[in-house]
Amino acid sequence: FSLNWNPIMVEKQGFKHFMLKEIYEQPGVVRTCVETYLDTTWSSDRDTNPVTLGLADDLFTDLEHVQIVACGTSWHASLVGKYLIEQLAGIPTMVQYASEFRYSPSPLTRHTLTIGVTQSGETADTLAALEMEQKRRQATEDLALAPRMLGITNRPESSLARLVPHIIDTHAGIEIGVAATKTFIAQVMAFYFLALDLAYRRQTLKPERIEQIIEELRQMPGQIEAVLESQERYIEELAHNFSETQDFIFLGRGINFPIALEGALKLKEISYIHAEGYPAGEMKHGPIALLDAKVPVVAIAMPGTVYDKVLSNAQEAKARDAQLIGVVPLNDEEAEFTFNSLLPVPPVDELLSPILTVIPLQLLAYHIAARRGLDVDQPRNLAKSVTVE
Ligand code: G6P
Repeated sequence: FSLNWNPIMVEKQGFKHFMLKEIYEQPGVVRTCVETYLDTTWSSDRDTNPVTLGLADDLFTDLEHVQIVACGTSWHASLVGKYLIEQLAGIPTMVQYASEFRYSPSPLTRHTLTIGVTQSGETADTLAALEMEQKRRQATEDLALAPRMLGITNRPESSLARLVPHIIDTHAGIEIGVAATKTFIAQVMAFYFLALDLAYRRQTLKPERIEQIIEELRQMPGQIEAVLESQERYIEELAHNFSETQDFIFLGRGINFPIALEGALKLKEISYIHAEGYPAGEMKHGPIALLDAKVPVVAIAMPGTVYDKVLSNAQEAKARDAQLIGVVPLNDEEAEFTFNSLLPVPPVDELLSPILTVIPLQLLAYHIAARRGLDVDQPRNLAKSVTVE
């Protein structure tokens, strides 16, 4: 008996691809983030900050605006971040593609926190956008316009960390698959902590609500595990139906709109299937013209402010013969009635739902690409980090 393993297989720890291994590492990544950046013993009667990001107070003094620059998957995490910062801490937040911002920056706003989000810390456009912003703010005499720069990265030793004075390290561990999975979830976690930190400092949330969110964040690793365990085999089978599909539409609204974008991006990147992510309410303004029995529609419909709206958007797609796949709450009769295929996740607070709804979409993209026999970890034409413009 001899072990027929090469070093790469050992690193993959029995998984067929790094991407699948990294998808499975997500419960651990979320656990590490929670343990690193939250005081998990915190309760609403305490007068200490429950968030332990350790960021300097002067980043936050009189804060009026947040602006975020990023590319690719990091841009999607930033869109979730915008939702959290606006809804939890009440601060107007703008998210820009770094490659756009660097050549057409918005007019300077006062007391503004600029955040660069890049897992590698090396993406040329993101670094250039931050450098440009820092310089143009340094060039003004007005103290209200002075730069306040923060980076969110998985590589605290990267070029980003040399450019900006404050960093949130996302602690996801090295990611090898070109399509980002665990680093995305870790970036999203960083935004929960940042939004809670801001909410605590600005007293925009009742302490009981903060306590509740912390408790739910603590439960996330177990919930992700439950999704992985219950869904993988089914998604692998479901993927068989789509290995010849040419177009996909992903729909979401509110905090799950960026997850629809991310689901579509994952599928494009590794399976080379054309996929569009859309805000569900916008479908009627264009994409609905694409729909027929050959274009599956994946909709994220989680309980909360837009649940009924997404279900009725999905029904509009069904009326055009689209095959409907729903990322829906577990044991939900209405969803079972609406969708042809169900990817159920535990019915959590809408605010926390992106941490769970992205998981079946990562698995779907992975299994469709694997079924097509593609090089999942090294997709054609893509690089893990793009260090040229
Ligand atoms: C490349 C990768 C993407 C990634 C993007 C931004 O395009 O293929 O997966 O999302 O760069 O990378 P960053 O390191 O800045 O997060």
